[in-house]
Amino acid sequence: SRLAFEPAAKPVPPEERARLLEDPGFGRVFTDHMAIIEYDEAKGWHDARLTARHPFTMDPAAPVLHYAQEIFEGMKAYRRPGGGAALFRPDANARRFAKSAIRLAMPPLPEEMFLDSVRALVRADRDWIPATEDGSLYLRPFMIANGSFLGMRSSTQFIYAVIASSVGSYFKGDAASVSLWVTREYVRAAPGGTGEAKCGGNYAGSLVAQAEAVRNGCDQVVFLDATERRWVEELGGMNVFFVFEDGSIQTPPLDGTILHGVTRDSLLTLARDMGLTVREEPYSIEQWKADAESGRLTEAFACGTAAVVTPIGRVKEADGEFAIGGQSTGPLTLRLRSALVDIQRGDAPDPYGWVEQV
Ligand code: COI
Repeated sequence: SRLAFEPAAKPVPPEERARLLEDPGFGRVFTDHMAIIEYDEAKGWHDARLTARHPFTMDPAAPVLHYAQEIFEGMKAYRRPGGGAALFRPDANARRFAKSAIRLAMPPLPEEMFLDSVRALVRADRDWIPATEDGSLYLRPFMIANGSFLGMRSSTQFIYAVIASSVGSYFKGDAASVSLWVTREYVRAAPGGTGEAKCGGNYAGSLVAQAEAVRNGCDQVVFLDATERRWVEELGGMNVFFVFEDGSIQTPPLDGTILHGVTRDSLLTLARDMGLTVREEPYSIEQWKADAESGRLTEAFACGTAAVVTPIGRVKEADGEFAIGGQSTGPLTLRLRSALVDIQRGDAPDPYGWVEQV
């Protein structure tokens, strides 16, 4: 690895780690190390290192604290049947991260540096991958604008870092499916905005709508398009798929306002190779309701790195709600999820070259 390694002086003792890994939930158990690479205009990217996880010290005028100049990624490392660990399509995350950087006027991190940093962290902290059936190491690469300047221009100093969290499933409990709330008040992204960049601001802006969903007894929010307030775009932090009676599947097209999900892309590939009819076409909320009620639509699911593939059981709006199929995991949802997860976890061959042993 091209990162200097300063091992944590006080790693979490193995017994304590074992206790934390029994039921880690999502995003609250963190590992011993982190990767850091710094940037400034004079030196470019420099001081790549793997070190003990520690707090940042930054100036209160750091641009990230004021103007949210921040981007991130989400990816997972899995425990392999024969020992060791594997990453899933890390090159796709490296590419998307560089694109997000450009949209947020940040210096793109060379893809090899991104990959080296992630690999180094997984190697150092692989004992933090839970051995549970749904367990993995969730990796969170991110970049923030550092420095001390309140003017309206891009910063000249940046910090890139990767932290890792031992995780189980994203959704709590063993509910067979999740429920969605259709927000009519809030929009996630507009044409020309930052919708397809993975930047913190998109998520900050969605929290009030997610809270509205929870107040209405639902697990996730559904965002409609900004222009017509009609076309289903994505959920609070995941893409959405529809499954029809004729065995075809559909997901909203990547028109600039939707996150280019790696899970979304992988499922489209798997579905096409299974011989399914696949459409990347707009789908309206009225049509979704009509199709669910007539039985033309039989299943729907959310997908993302964190959510994996999670069936949607019901959809609620201010003036009513509709149920989807049997409100449990439908057969096609299950088939697609198994095909994906089996490749990710090394339980099936990987004809696509998606898995990288670390
Ligand atoms: C992911 O799926 O990796 C995300 O970034 C979504 C976030 C809501 C956890």
